[in-house]
Amino acid sequence: MNELEPIRVELGARSYAVHVGRGNLGTVGARTRAAAAGAPVALVTNPTVDALWGDRVRASLAEAGVAATTIEIPDGERHKNVATLASLWGRLAEARIERGGLLLALGGGVVGDVTGFAAATWLRGVAFAQVPTTLVAQIDAAIGGKTAIDLPAGKNLVGAFHQPGFVLSDVEVLDSLPEREYRAGLAEVVKTGAILSAGLFERLETESGRVLARDPDLLLDVVHECSRLKATVVSADETEGDGRAILNFGHTLGHAVEALQGYEGILHGEAVSIGMAFATGMSEGRGFLRPSTGRRVRDLLRRFGLPTEVPAGLAAAALARAMEADKKRAAGRVRFVCLEDLGRTRFEALSTADLEGLVSEHLGKNVG
Ligand SMILES: NC(=O)c1ccc[n+]([C@@H]2O[C@H](COP(=O)([O-])OP(=O)(O)OC[C@H]3O[C@@H](n4cnc5c(N)ncnc54)[C@H](O)[C@@H]3O)[C@@H](O)[C@H]2O)c1
Ligand SMILES: [Zn+2]
Repeated sequence: MNELEPIRVELGARSYAVHVGRGNLGTVGARTRAAAAGAPVALVTNPTVDALWGDRVRASLAEAGVAATTIEIPDGERHKNVATLASLWGRLAEARIERGGLLLALGGGVVGDVTGFAAATWLRGVAFAQVPTTLVAQIDAAIGGKTAIDLPAGKNLVGAFHQPGFVLSDVEVLDSLPEREYRAGLAEVVKTGAILSAGLFERLETESGRVLARDPDLLLDVVHECSRLKATVVSADETEGDGRAILNFGHTLGHAVEALQGYEGILHGEAVSIGMAFATGMSEGRGFLRPSTGRRVRDLLRRFGLPTEVPAGLAAAALARAMEADKKRAAGRVRFVCLEDLGRTRFEALSTADLEGLVSEHLGKNVG
């Protein structure tokens, strides 16, 4: 097993470590024992992940003398809802998870978000820990303490900030991730480089082949570096002021595309890729970003097999309305994240009319 230096998320009394390694899944038992201190533990996962990695985690828990009840929730974003949450609460009662108990989330962002929100609400808040198993969850969803469920009215509308006690990422579990899910995760990797680190971005460019091949050493470095960057942002801004809001780069149009597609047929990362292509083009149009730099971002996304064009049939007016409805706005204007250079962003306050104009312009031309 190979584990890199632990990353600290610094939030005073709620600080915690993110452990990134390869083959370090077997440390989950000892870490859970330390965090739960003898109290009952619920291992929350879904059938897909349980079949692949559940036994390894249970063996590690048993070896550390941790008594854990496995609770499965159904697989898929459409189950990230109040029905799943209610049934999870019922199972926590059956498993007699008490005040000092701990919920251990084993899965992608859906399992992590639901488990985290259950932990925030169960007995007015119990401990939880994250063992993320998708690229998206390892570099993004598991770090930062945002938990949520979806409503028919929109994604992530009900939630809480509730920080985990630890995050344990084993990049080996990414070996079983379907290709499309892996590539969708790469969109968030590209985002991280584009907004926070020119060095990371350049490494992705020069080593794109190894990234796509999931080269073990490179993947470990990339997940560690992205996790470190996310941890830095979260440590500086827990609850989404300007610091954390830059993470929404590509997400304003991305969320609108997802919403108009009814969250079907398109993965979040794919929508964010389309959103980043728009945001770079728009940043160039306003004179903030050199066109050659914008083109590098779009080229890298395409090399990773990600879409950069808005799906046919989505109209500018509908997209602008959906962006306006996205919850990250103030005083009737959307705070749009623009790119100024690799590793540097700025905000623009845009009205719905501005957005509609920019989107129709974008749809009218083929951005290179
Ligand atoms: N809380 C946050 O800050 C935050 C940040 C980003 C995303 N999210 C949320 O995360 C969710 C998306 O997360 P996701 O992309 O991980 O999706 P997901 O949890 O739906 O996982 C994607 C698919 O991969 C499967 N899977 C998971 N691990 C696997 C593995 N190792 N091998 C094979 N298959 C595996 C899952 O069962 C699922 O079918 C969204 O609901 C999003 O809102 C939250
Ligand atoms: Zn995202």
